[in-house]
Amino acid sequence: MFDVICDQYHLLQMMSRFGISTGFGEKSVREVCEAAGVHAPTFLAVAGYLKNGRESAPYYVERICVSALMNYLRQAHSYFLNFQLPSIRRKLISAINCSSANEVAYLILKFYDEYMGDVRRHMDYEDKCVFTYVDTLMRGKASGDFRIEQFARSHVGIDKKLQELKNLIIKYYNASDAAELINTVLFDIFSCEDDLRQHCHVEDDLFVPAVELLEQRVAQGEKPEDDNVTASPDTDPLSEREKEIVRAIVRGGSNKEVADRLFISVHTVLTHRKNIFRKLGIHSVSGLTIYAIARGLVKLDEVEL
Ligand SMILES: [Fe+2]
Ligand SMILES: [Fe+2]
Repeated sequence: MFDVICDQYHLLQMMSRFGISTGFGEKSVREVCEAAGVHAPTFLAVAGYLKNGRESAPYYVERICVSALMNYLRQAHSYFLNFQLPSIRRKLISAINCSSANEVAYLILKFYDEYMGDVRRHMDYEDKCVFTYVDTLMRGKASGDFRIEQFARSHVGIDKKLQELKNLIIKYYNASDAAELINTVLFDIFSCEDDLRQHCHVEDDLFVPAVELLEQRVAQGEKPEDDNVTASPDTDPLSEREKEIVRAIVRGGSNKEVADRLFISVHTVLTHRKNIFRKLGIHSVSGLTIYAIARGLVKLDEVEL
């Protein structure tokens, strides 16, 4: 998992929307997903789609578990509405002069508030109508006349107005007295615009086709997928002997002292040390100490800081 995240650091955001937090150690993607109760093929499908672009969507659709993807989309809605958009608003207020004398600033804030209202309505509709319909479908029932195709037909991107706001600020707002603050808001708007665009693409390219497949299965009387994920036992790349060496190293002392305490040669300590650092991708005793405390191998008062 660590390699996947370092390859595309923006997947950190995707990971948290799947309910996975950092601190997963050396676990593989499958192990991290299973420990968090997340459907790993769906996680990998969304990661692959975000990396490879819209043309790759058909390859991933069949791998998707609809309920896992829907949880991801719900979390994304909550992130935009409760965190990202309010945070941009706060930064906007501190960056622009909102006094009534500055009419452009006043209109920019008004424009932004109207935009937040539009996004809230868009996401509320998806949460309350579309996702509720899909929940019913997953219980094997088709409700009323609604079909996902109707949603797909009227589904529009919600990033355009944000793009317009950014353009208005850049072109018409003179921020000579708060250039750094305005730049920070603009960076956030650029990033939020990309994020919202990708969110809508995931809905159009992965969610809608996956729900269409589900509709077909339900229409044919098939039982919808069972996506229960069972947690796998925690795994650690180090052997018990290597953990013992880690404890001795982080408790302090020279290689000779560590060797004497464990009744082994200095050469053996150095070989273990090299293997441990390679396996963990850690290259310092301070790093090894964080690992040892996080894994519960030692207590803070036992280590040499
Ligand atoms: Fe959405
Ligand atoms: Fe949407």
